[in-house]
Amino acid sequence: MRYFIAIWIFGVVAVVSILGFRGAKSTRQPIYVFPDMDWQAKYLPQGENKFFADGRNDRPVVPGTVGRGYGSQMKEVFSADYVDPVSLNPPMYSGKDADGEWVRGFPVEVTDEFMQLGQQKFTIFCAVCHGAAGDGNGVTKQFGMAATPTYHDARIRGMAEGEIFNTITHGKNLMGAYGMKLRPEERWAVIAYVRALQLAQQTSIEDVPEQFKPELGL
Ligand code: HEC
Repeated sequence: MRYFIAIWIFGVVAVVSILGFRGAKSTRQPIYVFPDMDWQAKYLPQGENKFFADGRNDRPVVPGTVGRGYGSQMKEVFSADYVDPVSLNPPMYSGKDADGEWVRGFPVEVTDEFMQLGQQKFTIFCAVCHGAAGDGNGVTKQFGMAATPTYHDARIRGMAEGEIFNTITHGKNLMGAYGMKLRPEERWAVIAYVRALQLAQQTSIEDVPEQFKPELGL
């Protein structure tokens, strides 16, 4: 009988302690078995602070601080002569000309170095899906991404450079945006390389300049 009463009392205590006060609110501090990092010496935003004369944690902006980043008024902050580089060459940054049409050709000079930059960035950012030859046979195809188109169909060959710039900048459907990963010049360099890949698949021996024919054994 003694055991029965002891077990019964234990049972009642266990039930009440586990279920009894669920949902009850208390203003008392909970028991901290593992305080982790709940208590630290730190200044909370907009908190009170006796050290400073104005009694605030937040410090005012230092006089002469220059605002930077989005929305800053460059002409007011820096100089009235400030010219936004984007306004000097809109096609370079938007892929569109003054009439809002996609740019054809390149707003920058295409040099050998520029092509090499394009090849490098293409290999890093695009080849996984589009394949080293631009035929859409990248490694992601093996993992079920069959939607990647080849660059060698007539539609993408005929596409304006500016529209490709837009696709790289903002992405399209399953293709993510690369605007934050590639600077505008780098995007144009990648487009030059895409054009080179297209040419490489759609050309005949007559298009090879005379001086390079011996190199190819012709
Ligand atoms: C994650 C895989 C993936 C990567 C990486 C990728 N693409 Fe794509 N790309 C796609 C897919 C999928 C489409 C088809 C989008 C659609 O039309 O639905 C596409 C479409 C395109 C098109 C055709 C756009 C059109 O309007 O039809 C171009 C051009 C292109 N990509 C260029 C690039 C370039 C340049 C890069 C590298 C900066 C790149 N892609 C990186 C998957 C990718």
